[in-house]
Amino acid sequence: MTIVHPSFGTLDDNRIIIFDTTLRDGEQSPGFSMNLHEKIRMAEALTELGVDVLEAGFPIASPGDFESVKAIADSVGQRDDSPVICGLARSGREDITRAGDAVRSAKRKRIHSFIATSPLHMKVKLRMEPEEVLQAVSDSVELARSFTDDVEWSAEDGTRTDPDFLCRCVEAAIRAGATTINIPDTVGYALPEDMERIFTMVRTRVPGADTIILSTHNHNDLGLAVANTLAALKAGARQIESTINGIGERAGNASLEEAIMAIRTRQDAVPYTNNVKTTNILRVSKMLSTITGFDVQPNKAIVGRNAFAHEAGIHQDGVLKDASTYEVMTPESVGWTKNSLVLGKHSGRAAFRDRLDQLGYKVGANQLNDAFRRFKDLADRKKVVFDEDLVALVDDEVMRDHEHVRFVSLDLHAGSKGPARAHLELDVDGEVKSAEATGNGPVDATFNAIQAIFPHTANLVLFSVGAVTEGTDAQAKTTVRLEENGKMVDGQGADSDTIVSAARAYVHALNKLLVKRLRTEPAALSA
Ligand code: KIV
Ligand code: ZN
Repeated sequence: MTIVHPSFGTLDDNRIIIFDTTLRDGEQSPGFSMNLHEKIRMAEALTELGVDVLEAGFPIASPGDFESVKAIADSVGQRDDSPVICGLARSGREDITRAGDAVRSAKRKRIHSFIATSPLHMKVKLRMEPEEVLQAVSDSVELARSFTDDVEWSAEDGTRTDPDFLCRCVEAAIRAGATTINIPDTVGYALPEDMERIFTMVRTRVPGADTIILSTHNHNDLGLAVANTLAALKAGARQIESTINGIGERAGNASLEEAIMAIRTRQDAVPYTNNVKTTNILRVSKMLSTITGFDVQPNKAIVGRNAFAHEAGIHQDGVLKDASTYEVMTPESVGWTKNSLVLGKHSGRAAFRDRLDQLGYKVGANQLNDAFRRFKDLADRKKVVFDEDLVALVDDEVMRDHEHVRFVSLDLHAGSKGPARAHLELDVDGEVKSAEATGNGPVDATFNAIQAIFPHTANLVLFSVGAVTEGTDAQAKTTVRLEENGKMVDGQGADSDTIVSAARAYVHALNKLLVKRLRTEPAALSA
């Protein structure tokens, strides 16, 4: 039976809905939190990637979560090409009302309500009897429908739920008006054959299952999230829930790029269609890494540095003769460029802007000026400027757009004799302030100078440096994690000088802490 969906209209049997939960399930994992501007940037990039539903957050979780879901509904949600903007809610009235309020302004909106249905979760976590849970399913979906026609209901821990009870819950949700039913493998326990069995059962046993979209949402605790996603599709699921780079609770969620490329590459076995523009994949993956400070592992499928590298001579020989000998998809199809050598120190502003356009960056006039100035400076110091350098530099500039404290300059004296000395200038809300400090090495001296200009009580809990490209003149990319009163934030910085990149990262983290503080104590900016 052809499904007529409130947000997507008539859907072909083979069309699958791509539901992205990078900003909700992904952002929920430790160290991956993003601020409002970062979430909006990600939401824009995901829209350009072509996802159908964007789960923007869990509005009841905190005022910040509510604000960011609302801000995404107010901005991205107004675009003609906007995905459906979705807010997550437990089954209580307050949760659902909050989610409904947060997504209200979006042109297309969804409330996603869930409740646990497995015996263990009902008994230990909810302390509810199965009949009470069943009632909560109907009540929550009915209430959600009063805010929007597009309602998704999830059976949390669905793959460990008693089959008969799962069918009763799904039936109740459909009767109450749910238009998408999601059966998550919340704890990453299922095998592909379990998924086939569960989805086939729900599709064939539950009255009305042919009028709604069945959805699959898989965690990666056993490394099976993508395999389980494909198995569910084969058994009738038509929505997949996934995240960029596979980020998410514990071992993460099914990785969007892996699921999409498996479908595209193996049309013979999984002949489904979707709207994802695969050439944007790498850009969104890198943007997420830059924002969160977590690079993907080099051997990560599709987006890892080595995903298309061929080391063994016999492989190199084969690839030179015909790439398909060892490559099941082309690197270009997911956004890798063959020739990443781009610009030199004689390149002008037009060529610079043109290259940024090709890389998918739309930057405002001020950001373009600042980024171009930094590019010229970099090109003076570095023999060759690669796409990766431009991406690091522009991301660094865009990240700083809303900062109250900005890096201005740093002079250092360091070496093997005596303490290091740093002379630092920061712009604090438009006023340039300077300080000199010593320390046990250049990083310590620089961070002490930041403390002198901008006193704060945050502790440094993580400091890591990597290189953007190869070579001794490569830009450094630094991540700094600060902790204050139990709140953790990560900051990133990039520069061809390692200590400047560290200073930028520290200042970035400090700005994030200020935003967090400001939400609870509005006078914080005068710190
Ligand atoms: O993993 C899970 O069960 C979830 C639900 C909220 C859908 O994330
Ligand atoms: Zn989940």
